[in-house]
Amino acid sequence: MAALLDIPLRTSKPAYQKVTQPLLGSGQVRRGIHRPQDVVAWDLPVERRDQPVKSVFPDSGVDLLIVQGDSILEHFREPAKVTLRGTLRDSTMRYAAITGWGACMPPAVLTNADLSTFLDTTDDWIRSRTGMRERRISHASAIDMATVAAKRALACAGLEPDAVELVIYGSCSNDEQVPNSASGVQFALGARRASAMDVNTACTSFLYGLSTASAMIRTGVVSNAVVIGVELISPYMDWNNRNVAVLFGDGSAAVVLQASDRHEGLLGEELGCDAEARHILRVRGMGCAYANRNVVLGDTQWDFDGQEIFRRAVHGMTRASKAVLAKCGVTADQVDLVVPHQANLRIIEAVVSRCGVPMDKVMLTVERYGNMSAATVPVALAEAVNEGRVRPGSLILMPAFGAGLTLCAHLVRWGDRVIPLGQTDAALPPSAKTALEMVNEIRALKAQAAVRSAAGLAAPRLVETA
Ligand SMILES: CC(C)(COP(=O)(O)OP(=O)(O)OC[C@H]1O[C@@H](n2cnc3c(N)ncnc32)[C@H](O)[C@@H]1OP(=O)(O)O)[C@@H](O)C(=O)NCCC(=O)NCCS
Repeated sequence: MAALLDIPLRTSKPAYQKVTQPLLGSGQVRRGIHRPQDVVAWDLPVERRDQPVKSVFPDSGVDLLIVQGDSILEHFREPAKVTLRGTLRDSTMRYAAITGWGACMPPAVLTNADLSTFLDTTDDWIRSRTGMRERRISHASAIDMATVAAKRALACAGLEPDAVELVIYGSCSNDEQVPNSASGVQFALGARRASAMDVNTACTSFLYGLSTASAMIRTGVVSNAVVIGVELISPYMDWNNRNVAVLFGDGSAAVVLQASDRHEGLLGEELGCDAEARHILRVRGMGCAYANRNVVLGDTQWDFDGQEIFRRAVHGMTRASKAVLAKCGVTADQVDLVVPHQANLRIIEAVVSRCGVPMDKVMLTVERYGNMSAATVPVALAEAVNEGRVRPGSLILMPAFGAGLTLCAHLVRWGDRVIPLGQTDAALPPSAKTALEMVNEIRALKAQAAVRSAAGLAAPRLVETA
């Protein structure tokens, strides 16, 4: 007997586990093995598809049950040959549903025309090379932005701060190095019971944080989490360098994850790091390597090979996207929405075209917000939901890359709810300053730096040259 089981399944480590409950639940398709006395749920690596059941399930004489809701859909007895499509699901494993979302964008807008008041650049150059028209400059701290975003996401999920078990702060912008920033958000939220962790993989930090939190929820370490993507780049931007100064902006957003029995939330991810090229994107002047070398914190110099980053970003995001779709058994035309990292419109166009997804399925914020590093994906995701571009059950692909060069692609299935459960009046403190005034203040502070030490910025012991 041969059968093709074209069902949604999901991978995890090979293991099996006794379950006391039948392999049933909330209308989901599940896979398991039935023995005379036990019901046993199995994981198995997806590569082992197209193999006879016997070689996949070493115990001879077992039955394979495909169960949906209360009914047994399929029942195979050895030596059935089963082709398993898609990824595999462990019947005892929980999922991490996205139940809340919220962004906090600083209000002050820095236009291309503003940039051209102090840089040799033009609106036309920036728009044609990057797709950007404007970006935001924050008058508030990174922790303030992250906290407001988290409060909005929690209100949206209907979750009280004192019920939060984990705060992940995804960013490379920290108000201080010690203590960590997540603890500042935990404090400001009043989420006293929560553990608090920073994740820094540069522009991919939110998505790496999503992986971390989802894994901790699925394995029962915590039952919920707030995952934040936030960036406050304006204080350490090298505003004299037009190669980078036109590209970046400040912003933040957060999601709430909660344990769920439903097959939703993060379905799979592909994570990677193109570290051989880590030297092509570096912010010199931040970190212990520059300590005690007459380098003033904030007075940075960016190593930035734009064309090479562009090339590697297109390659890396495309490869990761294709890999996660294959892992999850999803084809490009099944993707409802792409929410990509927004570093450059041309990068996004190249990636989605290579993946076979049309641009009308892509959520774009790059024109209005530029590259907010770790904040781009969650801000775009929150706006996509609020604009009605995410529907119940939507399949959302989120590819990203950043310094390191870290890269990833995540596939998420949205849940049933696209309407917030609640709202909050949490907001940033008011500010009357324009973005250009704030940038000029930062530039003036940088100009006052007593010593800009070229030798210090050359930081002698970096890992590639040690
Ligand atoms: C940075 C980037 C927009 C530059 O676009 P590009 O088409 O590669 O442009 P080039 O670097 O070839 O520069 C073309 C010319 O414009 C000039 N130029 C660079 N920045 C400029 C600016 N802001 N305004 C005007 N001219 C500029 C260059 O000096 C160069 O002049 P030249 O031909 O006389 O030498 C593009 O490479 C990119 O987006 N790379 C990815 C970077 C990124 O997103 N990094 C973030 C990682 S999270």
